[in-house]
Amino acid sequence: MTAQLSKKSEAWSARFSEPVSDLVKRYTASVFFDKRLADVDIQGSLAHAEMLAHQKIISQQDHEAIQRGMAQIRDEIASGKFEWLLDLEDVHLNIEKRLTELAGDAGKRLHTGRSRNDQVATDIRLYIRGAIDDIVGLLREFRLALLDLAEQHADTILPGFTHMQVAQPITFGHHMLAYVEMFSRDAERMLDCRKRVNRLPLGAAALAGTTFPIDRERVAKTLGFDDVCRNSLDAVSDRDFAIEFCAAAALVMTHISRMSEELVIWMSPRVGFIDIADRFCTGSSIMPQKKNPDVPELARGKTGRVNGHLIALLTLMKGQPLAYNKDNQEDKEPLFDAVDTVVDTLRIFADMARGITVKPEAMRAAALQGYATATDLADYLVKKGLPFRDAHEAVAHAVRTCVDRDCDLGDLKLDELRAFSTLIEQDVFDVLTLEGSVAARDHIGGTAPAQVRAAIARHRAALG
Ligand code: ARG
Repeated sequence: MTAQLSKKSEAWSARFSEPVSDLVKRYTASVFFDKRLADVDIQGSLAHAEMLAHQKIISQQDHEAIQRGMAQIRDEIASGKFEWLLDLEDVHLNIEKRLTELAGDAGKRLHTGRSRNDQVATDIRLYIRGAIDDIVGLLREFRLALLDLAEQHADTILPGFTHMQVAQPITFGHHMLAYVEMFSRDAERMLDCRKRVNRLPLGAAALAGTTFPIDRERVAKTLGFDDVCRNSLDAVSDRDFAIEFCAAAALVMTHISRMSEELVIWMSPRVGFIDIADRFCTGSSIMPQKKNPDVPELARGKTGRVNGHLIALLTLMKGQPLAYNKDNQEDKEPLFDAVDTVVDTLRIFADMARGITVKPEAMRAAALQGYATATDLADYLVKKGLPFRDAHEAVAHAVRTCVDRDCDLGDLKLDELRAFSTLIEQDVFDVLTLEGSVAARDHIGGTAPAQVRAAIARHRAALG
């Protein structure tokens, strides 16, 4: 805690006949966590002051005094010299009080035509907009790393699974591209959410608008907002944009978590499909042989946090009458933690993706077990004229025989295979190989190495 309770307990204003109790002060204060909004708060205030001066609501001298004061406050915050006071409740009042110390009456005039209600809504929107831009950048870095991995292993074959049972052979490049698709949609979702975040609430004042001749469009332009919020009550009260952001963040983490689950399984010595560079792993305090994939495990765990924050914000909103209510102060901690968790996780994953070593022999050995080419054999029979259901049945008999003899379909001799269907000829061995199986799935979205390479090129072009 850097903020401290000041010795003298001041009453809130002349309206109050006794000071607020210390317990209540602590309970209602948000400065410990909302001081993170200081930079956007100052940005918003400067844009507001510029507009007030332009509209001649405050003088040019006052505007300049505010600018000078804010520049100094920025320096004080950056150098850790700013004194945050719990008595002053939140980031907004702390900064305004200091401005008044520095700029006198000009500081007191800054709040003309404004309320903390539209001020805080503006700050959160600016903050989320910045977070979205960071996250979209990190999603790009991460996808570039995954694309490199996909390219290195466009031909590497591993078993694809359904129900955690070997299903069909796929390429590792194709598997990585599945995640690239997910993270591309996550970036799209973030950018879509940004459109609704990027509207200016300032001007709504407490809830009904203001009697001063303000120019909201001017402030929007200064702050880079695409539009102004169209209803003052809605502008100060709804946090749907923060909920949307958390939903998009929860999906990013959910995708990260699915990938983490696979990385953990793949790195298990029993599976041994990959290794993750030592710098991303930790050992055990008791078992010297251990090298644990802590980063993916922790990311899987942290997903719960972000999913929880989404529910927290939805629940925060659901019972609130219009317009602003103090409940909304509770939007910040979940939001900040969601941002921190997603940013930290993406940063580490983008780095870790370049520390993954793929073990093609282990993948290949696994793909050779479990009759991964059974569907290929059925498709082969269909192409020779057998109806699919009959082909399915014939191959099921063949698999049964292989299970009994503990061998793969490709290990059966031609005359043994012909016992299941006389349509089978020498060319069957082309489709029973892993390479034949993946190469045959040669259409958009298929696992063929040629398609994997085309998809990588498409993604790279889109990422610029
Ligand atoms: N700290 C408050 C928040 O986070 C700022 C707005 C307070 N407005 C008020 N009328 N109490 O929402």
